[in-house]
Amino acid sequence: MLQFALDFITLPPAVAVASKTAPHVDIFEIGTPLCKAAGLEAIRAVREVCPDNLILADFKTPDVGWLEAQMAFDAGADLMTVIGGAPMATVESALKTADEYGKEILMELTGVRDIITYAKEWRQVGIEWMVYHRGWDEEASNRQWSQDDLDTIQRLIDMGFKVTVTGGLTNESIPFFQSIPVTALITGRAIHAAPDPVASAIEIRSTISRLWGSPQQGSVMPSAGDSEYETATKAIRWGVGEMDLLLTTDGRDCPGCDDPGRFCRGTKTGIFIPQGINADDLIAAIERVFGPSNAFGKVNHETFYLDPAQIAGYSSAGVIQLLTALGNALTGLGHRNDLNAAVATANQVLGNQ
Ligand code: 5RP
Repeated sequence: MLQFALDFITLPPAVAVASKTAPHVDIFEIGTPLCKAAGLEAIRAVREVCPDNLILADFKTPDVGWLEAQMAFDAGADLMTVIGGAPMATVESALKTADEYGKEILMELTGVRDIITYAKEWRQVGIEWMVYHRGWDEEASNRQWSQDDLDTIQRLIDMGFKVTVTGGLTNESIPFFQSIPVTALITGRAIHAAPDPVASAIEIRSTISRLWGSPQQGSVMPSAGDSEYETATKAIRWGVGEMDLLLTTDGRDCPGCDDPGRFCRGTKTGIFIPQGINADDLIAAIERVFGPSNAFGKVNHETFYLDPAQIAGYSSAGVIQLLTALGNALTGLGHRNDLNAAVATANQVLGNQ
């Protein structure tokens, strides 16, 4: 995937280049300077002109993780960075909010000296994404990309992280990383400072596709415009509604699943666990029916998630199996639910009826 960092200090040029390059970019990053210069308005404005792109708020949050995550996601971001030096309590509080919204937190590794040691702790609390970063100041003091960088990134990937890489990357330097399965390459200046930003985005994205291929199903966060997953996610949400379960996203003022302004983005649906049911028991019961999978999991003792994009060998039948596993698990744990209604509604959304 190509992530384009909008590192501007005023909003109008950022919005102008975002709207022109949108078809050639997977993720727009609201760069840290733009976040500081224009605040949440920058996220809202880019969301408005680029409804089908993922948006990352590069807050590099050091404290009060839950509040900054709420602010970013309410404004329309799908992903937010927390700085690697932040206390674990901040990481956990940002993650909890991201899980409630069905969004993602990325650890920003700028300045982290013992990356692998911290990575083990971040993995334990549930971090899945990392930004491996050569900072501008490091680049200016002549820090070159090296085999050590490749080895560290590969170790993070082996630990199960999705790793994005950034720091002065250009179309010419990107092939240096081709031996490792990075999730996204991030470029800022190579696009926005180019004489023709659109041509540059096209060129860099085609280099990425040539070297890594198109994103594999389920291996990266599906794009917000990916209609197959969008439909599956809608089927899950509507099906879960028929089971009288509550989503963790408050959708009372939501304009609806098919509206670009909807509250839920991404494919992960957070759901409250009915009272009296233990979270671990519920997950174990779903697993007994569905088998081990990342398509469901515990968020905390009150909530769990379903994520159809993580169904191995994705199919709409798999979506129905996931809902059925949930319904049977709840019934087995003594919580009555209308599984037939849930399956009928989900099938309708999936176009199976
Ligand atoms: C700086 C950043 C930048 O967004 C990142 O480095 C990408 O920009 P460029 O490709 O111009 O280096 O986070 O701290």
